[in-house]
Amino acid sequence: MLAEIQSGRLPKGLSNLLSPFAIDAHAAHIQSLDRLAHYQVCGLEIEAAPGLYHPHATSSSHFTLRTLLRENRSLGHLLELGCGTGVLSLALLHQSLAEQAVMLDISAEAIRTSASNARKAGLEQRTRILQGDLFEPVGGETFDTVLFNLPLMHTAHHGSTHQALDDTAGGLAERFFQDLPRYLKPGGAAYFSYSNICDESLLADFSHRHPVELVAAEWVVSSGFWLMVYRADAPTMTTRPG
Ligand SMILES: C[S@@+](CC[C@H](N)C(=O)[O-])C[C@H]1O[C@@H](n2cnc3c(N)ncnc32)[C@H](O)[C@@H]1O
Repeated sequence: MLAEIQSGRLPKGLSNLLSPFAIDAHAAHIQSLDRLAHYQVCGLEIEAAPGLYHPHATSSSHFTLRTLLRENRSLGHLLELGCGTGVLSLALLHQSLAEQAVMLDISAEAIRTSASNARKAGLEQRTRILQGDLFEPVGGETFDTVLFNLPLMHTAHHGSTHQALDDTAGGLAERFFQDLPRYLKPGGAAYFSYSNICDESLLADFSHRHPVELVAAEWVVSSGFWLMVYRADAPTMTTRPG
């Protein structure tokens, strides 16, 4: 299994092993987001309005951020999809890994909160914050880096769904993989989170057409699933021959 993960492939069928603990943890997680909270991340104060994804210590936000900080690659002009509180873009701007960031989210609350967090961090001059569905607000533009910490849960294992946590049936991931190559500049790269609780067939299909590299993987003990960050480099994003 480790060899499969290290080679960038998701172990086949692992999503079926999602434990009852993960399902309970997911339901508890949805409830825990329903409050206003403040977090210190890379020296920035990040407010998380009720309903948004919270950048708590064991969140995928922290894991994704840690991964990018460790990679220490210059991210240039960054496009972040699903910015939520804005924590990832703002921390990457603050750490000078990104120069400018376009931050998008479908949620009006995410846009309001990201704008407020950017203002408090003194970073609003380096951000453009737009509401919309996936790439729709930046049609025709290209970026050095595209970043997306995706909603990870693709199967309705539980009673309620949440816009920040659930991509039921994988429709969002499918559209992301479909459109991504058009938004990267030559030499650019995309980073995205994925997991064995995502639809593994979508990543398998994408990685068949465009090679992807696994950058980091972590077993989330409290929830019982694998969290991964992948990179897809623009120069390799030519369609592989059939
Ligand atoms: C897992 S949260 C990540 C939030 C933030 N980037 C972070 O790491 O803390 C996923 C985000 O994707 C957003 N989202 C869901 N569907 C979307 C869509 N169709 N277009 C844009 N954003 C979307 C959600 O509103 C949520 O803010």
